[in-house]
Formats: sequence, structure tokens, C-alpha cells
Amino acid sequence: MDVFEALYTTRAMRRVKPDPIPAEVQQRILDAAVRAPSAGNTQGWRFLLVDDPEVKSKLGPLYRDALGRLFEGHYKPMRERAEATGDTRTLSVLRSARHLADNFESYPLLLFAFTRNDPSGGSIYPAVWSAQLAARAFGVGSALTSVLGLFHAAETMRILGVPEDKGWQMACMVTFGYPTGRWGVAPRRPAHEVAFRNQWGEPVGFEIPEPLWEP
Ligand SMILES: Cc1cc2nc3c(=O)[nH]c(=O)nc-3n(C[C@H](O)[C@H](O)[C@H](O)COP(=O)(O)O)c2cc1C
Repeated sequence: MDVFEALYTTRAMRRVKPDPIPAEVQQRILDAAVRAPSAGNTQGWRFLLVDDPEVKSKLGPLYRDALGRLFEGHYKPMRERAEATGDTRTLSVLRSARHLADNFESYPLLLFAFTRNDPSGGSIYPAVWSAQLAARAFGVGSALTSVLGLFHAAETMRILGVPEDKGWQMACMVTFGYPTGRWGVAPRRPAHEVAFRNQWGEPVGFEIPEPLWEP
């Protein structure tokens, strides 16, 4: 697959089939992840795959509780504003996030990423994104989530048997599955609206009104 196709079309893919992800694909996902950069090449990461329905059934209620808290707290003004203004894009993201929570146990594969001595998180997210891109190359959709770690990190780590005294922090959890829908280019604010040159606020010097990669 063309690298730009992977970069432009790797979306949060939350509507997926329950079909299992073959072991060879799981290997490719993890092998790509560990090629990622980390500060000083310390590779202070651990990855934990979950496909056991019993483990998922313990985590699902925690995930739904965490998302409920997020929706009733931090996200509430955003949702209310979106409802008031008819902001369908935001409402669709929130619906999609709810879908993940409601269907947590049906995702065939979860990846938990742990990091240590990594205050910025900069040494774990490249690896996570590489895992998602590798999955994309095999037609597997993924969704990065952080809400479980925000509200139920300790309980999640206890369920997963993560040692408590080794400094591991749960960075995120990624769901994987074969999409029910199609891949599309991620709509985003264009680069020239969020990038500057030489001085903050100064134009970057070009405009990119449409994505430079097209299907
Ligand atoms: C740091 C981070 C945390 C995220 N946490 C969650 C989450 O807890 N739950 C969820 O459903 N999606 C989560 N997402 C996914 C975002 O909602 C998604 O990347 C964004 O809406 C863009 O989606 P798109 O690529 O389909 O346009 C997270 C993404 C990032 C980068």
C-alpha cells in the first residue's frame, strides 16, 4: 500500500466485524510497532493483546463507565453546543465513540500500550500509530482510545495483571477489527490554517485547500 494512502485513510474505525484478526497480521502489527522511535531508543514500552472474551467482559463495564463520565463531564458542553448548532461532524464522532463503548466486547482484538520514564508520552504514541498504520495495510481498522486509562487505569491494570511497582503507565488502548464500512480521507482543518513560518501567526507561505492525496 502507498504510504500516503495509509497516512490519509487511517481513521478511527469503530464499526467493525467480530471476525478474528489472524495471528500473522497481529505479528505484523506488533513488529511494526517496535520499529518506532523512542527517546534515546530506550524502547520503554510493553504491549498487551487481549482477545479473551472473559478479559474483555471485565473491561467492558469499566470502559462504558469511563466514557459516560467523559460525556457527562468534559464533553458535555461540546455535545450541547454541537446539538444547538447542528454540528453533525462532532455529533457523529460522539455517536461513533458511544458505539465503541456499547460494543466493546465485540472487538476481536484490543491492544494495550504501556510506557515508563516517558513524561511526554512521546515515546509510546509513534509505536501505537505504527501499529495502526500496519493494521491499515492489512485492511484492519483501529481506534485509539484513552478514556479507560483516564478514569480506570488502576482497575484496568489490575485486571490485566500489570505489575504495580515497576513504573508502568497505561498510555492507551487500541481496538482492531475488519471494517463494516469503507475507508475515507480524514477531514481536517487544512495545514495552512494551523501552521506558521518563522514566527507564530505568520503565514506558512502556501495554501492547501484540498487534501494532496486522493483515492
Ligand atoms: C490521544 C487520543 C485519545 C483518544 N481517545 C479516544 C477515546 O477514549 N475513545 C474514542 O472512541 N476515541 C478516542 N480517540 C480517537 C479520536 O476520537 C479520533 O482520532 C478523532 O475523532 C479523529 O477521528 P477520524 O480519524 O475518524 O477523523 C482518541 C484519539 C487520540 C489521538
